[in-house]
Amino acid sequence: MAENTLTITDNRTGKQYEIAIENETIKALDLRKIKVADGDFGLMTYDPAFMNTASTKSRITFIDGDKGILEYRGYPIDELAEKSSYLEVAYLLLHGELPTAAQLKDWNWNITHHTFINESIKKVLDGFHYNAHPMGMFIAMLGALSTFYPDAKDIFNEESRWKQVYRLIAKVPTIAAFAYRHRIGMQYAYPDNDLTYEGNFLNMMFKTTELTYEPNPVLERALSVLFILHADHEQNCSTNAMRSIGSAHTDPFSSLAGAAAALYGPLHGGANEMVLRMLNEIGSVKNVPDYIKRVQAGEFRLMGFGHRVYKNYDPRARIIKTVAYEVFEVTGKDPLLDIALELERIALEDEYFVKRKLYPNVDFYSGIIYQAMRFPVDMFPVLFAIPRTSGWLAQWAEMLDDPDQKIARPRQVYLGERTRSYVPIEKREGKIETAKA
Ligand code: ACO
Repeated sequence: MAENTLTITDNRTGKQYEIAIENETIKALDLRKIKVADGDFGLMTYDPAFMNTASTKSRITFIDGDKGILEYRGYPIDELAEKSSYLEVAYLLLHGELPTAAQLKDWNWNITHHTFINESIKKVLDGFHYNAHPMGMFIAMLGALSTFYPDAKDIFNEESRWKQVYRLIAKVPTIAAFAYRHRIGMQYAYPDNDLTYEGNFLNMMFKTTELTYEPNPVLERALSVLFILHADHEQNCSTNAMRSIGSAHTDPFSSLAGAAAALYGPLHGGANEMVLRMLNEIGSVKNVPDYIKRVQAGEFRLMGFGHRVYKNYDPRARIIKTVAYEVFEVTGKDPLLDIALELERIALEDEYFVKRKLYPNVDFYSGIIYQAMRFPVDMFPVLFAIPRTSGWLAQWAEMLDDPDQKIARPRQVYLGERTRSYVPIEKREGKIETAKA
C-alpha cells in the first residue's frame, strides 16, 4: 500500500478505497468513487463556511493561525511592516518577488499615473444622498468604473491585465476620497502625483485651501504600515468572493466590487467600525468588567476579538498597537485607547476568552488609529478595501492562471420536498404565516 494514501472502508458495502494524500489534503472528487450502487452520485463532503476545505493551491500568503504567523510570499509581515512600503508590498504580492530599484520606480510611476478618474464618475457620485455610506458608494463606483474600461474584459491578455491592475490600485484611493468628500459636501481634491501613494490619499481626503498639501510623514508612514498589514490574508470571505466572481471570467472591476461588498459585512471588514462603536458605547474604563460579563452571557460579541484562523494573538494586531503610539505622538491620545487596553487586558486573562482562544484581531486597534487620523468611522471599511485591492488582484490573477480552477460552483445537500403536483390556490391550506413588513 502506498505510503501517502488514506484507506477508507465504507461500512454500508464493506468496500475499501485507497485515496491519495497530497499536501496534507485529499481531493474531494476522489470520494465520488465511494458508492453503494453503480448509478449513485457518489460521496460528497459537507462543509458549510469552508471550515476544512482548501479551495485552491496558492503561493501568495501563508498563515499559521496557531503560531500567529503571517507571511506574504515568504516574507514575515513584521519585517515588511518595518522595512517596506505599501506599493512595494503590492508589487511583491502581484509579482511574487520584491522589485529591484528600477522595477519599483516603474511600478510606482505606473500606479501614480493612473490615479485620475473619468470626470463622468462624479455624476454617479452626485446621485447619492448626502448621508450615503462611503463603502456603499465605493462599491457602486467600482461597478461603475467597469463600464469605463471595456478592455478590462480581456482578462487573458497579459498587457491588458496589468493595465487594470495599475488602474485599480491607483484609483481606489481616489474613489474612496471622492466618496468621503461627497458625503461631507466638500469639493473634490484631485490627485497630486508628486506625493506618495499614502500622502496623496491624505491630500485627496483632507486638502482644503492650501495650494499644495503637505502630509505629515508620521501619519503617511502609519498609513503605509496599516496598508501593508491589510494587503492580503489568503482565502478570507472577500478574497473568496473575488475568486468566485472572477472564476466566471467577470472583469476585475466588477469582481472587485463584489469582493468589496463581502468586506463590508460587520463580521469581516466592517469589524473595526463596530469596534469603535463598541468602545464608544462602553464609554469609560470602569464599565469594562460589566461589558465583559454581558459578552460572556452571550448578549453580544466583543468586536475586534476572535478570528477564524488565528487561535493566537493576530500578528498584525501586535504591530498595529505600536503604530498607535506613534500616531498618538502626533495627534494626541484618543481616550478610547484606555478602554481598548483595559478590554484587552481583562479578556486575555478571562477564562471565557482563553478557553475559546479569542485574541485581539487586526481590527481591534486599527479603528482607534484611523479615528485619531481624522478618518470618520464609516470610512473604516473603505480604508481596509484600498490596500486589500492588491491582494484581491493577486489572488484573482493566480486563480485565472491555475489550470485546476473552473467556475466556482459548490454542491448542496438537498433536504427539501421532492416532486409534487401544483396545487390550485383555492385548495391550499396556508401553512405559512406571512411576515408583516
Ligand atoms: N466575542 C465573544 N465570543 C466570541 C467571539 C467574540 N468576538 N468570537 C467568537 N466567540 C465565541 C463564539 O460565541 C463561540 O462560542 P461557543 O463555542 O460557546 O458557541 C466560539 O467563540 C467560537 O466562535 P465561532 O463563531 O465558531 O468562530 P468563527 O471562527 O466562526 O468566527 C469571527 C470568527 C467571525 C471573526 C468571530 O470571532 C467574530 O464574530 N468576531 C467578532 C467580529 C470581528 O472582530 N471580526 C473581524 C475578523 S478579522 C477580519 O475580518 C479582518
